[in-house]
Amino acid sequence: MEYRHLGRSGLMVSEISYGNWITHGSQVEEDAAVECVRAALDEGVTTFDTADVYAGTRAEEVLGRALKGVRRESLEIFTKVYWPTGEGKNDRGLSRKHITESINGSLRRLQTDYVDLYQAHRYDVETPLEETLRAFDDLVRQGKVLYVGVSEWSADQIARALKIADDMGFDRLVSNQPQYSMLWRVIEAEVVPLCEKEGLGQIVWSPIAQGVLTGKYLPGQPPPAGSRATDPSGSGFIGRLMDDDLLRRVQDLKPIAADLGLSMAQLAVAWVLQNPNVSSAIIGATKPEQVRDNVKASGVKLDAEVLKKIDDVLGPVVERDPAKTVSPSARP
Ligand SMILES: NC(=O)c1ccc[n+]([C@@H]2O[C@H](COP(=O)([O-])OP(=O)(O)OC[C@H]3O[C@@H](n4cnc5c(N)ncnc54)[C@H](OP(=O)(O)O)[C@@H]3O)[C@@H](O)[C@H]2O)c1
Repeated sequence: MEYRHLGRSGLMVSEISYGNWITHGSQVEEDAAVECVRAALDEGVTTFDTADVYAGTRAEEVLGRALKGVRRESLEIFTKVYWPTGEGKNDRGLSRKHITESINGSLRRLQTDYVDLYQAHRYDVETPLEETLRAFDDLVRQGKVLYVGVSEWSADQIARALKIADDMGFDRLVSNQPQYSMLWRVIEAEVVPLCEKEGLGQIVWSPIAQGVLTGKYLPGQPPPAGSRATDPSGSGFIGRLMDDDLLRRVQDLKPIAADLGLSMAQLAVAWVLQNPNVSSAIIGATKPEQVRDNVKASGVKLDAEVLKKIDDVLGPVVERDPAKTVSPSARP
């Protein structure tokens, strides 16, 4: 495993992190979840990503139990706040109240005194940005949070946050967590150039497009049994990708991966890591074998000719529109 700085901060992260959305506390039983975490640790993964909202808060509990006994200083634990964690009108968003209450719940469930990175899971149009950033800064002062970042914020939203932080002397954002893969490149035009200039790193999610870039979903055929596309909690998210033209083009990536001696998952994870603004690629897994396969992408270099071949194969199914980075227009 190779390690990178998180943006321009002093924090080192594993260039492949392990995340537990849809899996822990939901799609997979706890034994399988713990085995995946163990496999990640064995392979040198030190960075773990979760969120208060995953599996209705159960995902943080599972991760807390799975990491119990591991030397805390050897781990970077990331979590997030914004999406609803309860029925109450204040159980959501980025108000000072919800941020304060949510971090306390996350720390309890994760069984730790602090998280390494606390991320605003989306932009909250109903809270003044200054209120959110001051609340984040307070958590840093209290030692509950070491670094702060955001997820799926547009370049304009990130730029406004940096300006306020600089004017007010608040801790600066060090990272953004966007969706990024060969198929979804919407950060490249605006978010990445701003973040490179300002020293934020990308911690990218769904690098293998939720399993699609492994090539296991075949055009015109039902999804394989037990895969995310058949799971009640996962199928809604992966549905957009179940398009025959897209799936056919993904099949055409197989010779490229084979020529390089890589699995399809390794090719997909390696692809996002070629972008120097990416600090880490967060992989998900339902089985430890998937973790062991995907982590081998660390350190793989893809040359310009390979990148061009991938672009030629995928052609029009690649999404590049920066306007696709959106947060809800009202609090969920
Ligand atoms: N900030 C955000 O808004 C946001 C949103 C989404 C995710 N995330 C973060 O990103 C993490 C990763 O997202 P993701 O799970 O969508 O990532 P992903 O790595 O693109 O997809 C993971 C899924 O693909 C399948 N898979 C993985 N490796 C495989 C292999 N070698 N062969 C065959 N199938 C394989 C597994 O599903 P099956 O076995 O079920 O098919 C696995 O659960 C999340 O856990 C979370 O931490 C953040």
